Amino acid sequence: MRFLITAGPTREAIDPVRYLTNRSSGKMGYCLAEAAVHEGHSVLLVSGPTSLDIPHGVDFLPVESAQEMYDAVKNQAPYADAAILSAAVADYRPVFVPNRKIKKTGERMILELERTGDILGSMRTEFGFSGVLIGFAAETHDVEDYARGKLERKRCDMVVANDVSRRDIGFDSSENEVMLVYPDRTELLEKAPKTQIALRIIEHASRLAQEKGASC
Ligand code: PMT
Repeated sequence: MRFLITAGPTREAIDPVRYLTNRSSGKMGYCLAEAAVHEGHSVLLVSGPTSLDIPHGVDFLPVESAQEMYDAVKNQAPYADAAILSAAVADYRPVFVPNRKIKKTGERMILELERTGDILGSMRTEFGFSGVLIGFAAETHDVEDYARGKLERKRCDMVVANDVSRRDIGFDSSENEVMLVYPDRTELLEKAPKTQIALRIIEHASRLAQEKGASC
């Protein structure tokens, strides 16, 4: 089975030397890629900038901005049986990016932002993806409710929800605790190293693929 996995943060340029980003280390997505290879699958890892080593045995496509990740996923989705979008993609980017460093002027400055393309939300509609679709939900409150909303709106088969208000799991931690939100149920994967959580998610993805009748 061929997995397309996204990982890490994106960087949205403000000027040639500054950017907007977030605290994603890429660990969750890289563990997913390793777990899928370990289980005998083929993997394309589309990754924002991280300091991690590229996992052995994966095809690797580095990107920087949300738009680059959008284009990469759009191009590669037709070749995947399952897609797991664990990247922390910027929801907004600066409207105008000057090609010179912005100089200090007044005491305040206003940065105008615009929405980036919704990669997960485009998979079924714009990209015509019919394989197993697994999204992530990074929430600080009402975690399961928001995740279920994403599951339905973005037509996912499953959403992996984590509580990113906690410092011991989620962003830039070696461990995670997640809820696997399905249309008819929710399963808790208790706190464990991301390597173990990733293996469980790949098991669930493989089961979903078998149910859909994808070639394994
Ligand atoms: O990288 P780590 O340090 O290991 O941290 C792991 C993690 C916390 C980043 C990971 O577990 C996680 O929660 N990833 C999703 C982060 C996120 O941006 O969640 P969200 O609720 O904002 O987005 C929901 C889904 O839409 C995600 O699948 C995201 O990849 C996707 N998305 C978001 C914005 C956008 N423009 N396009 C998207 O496809």
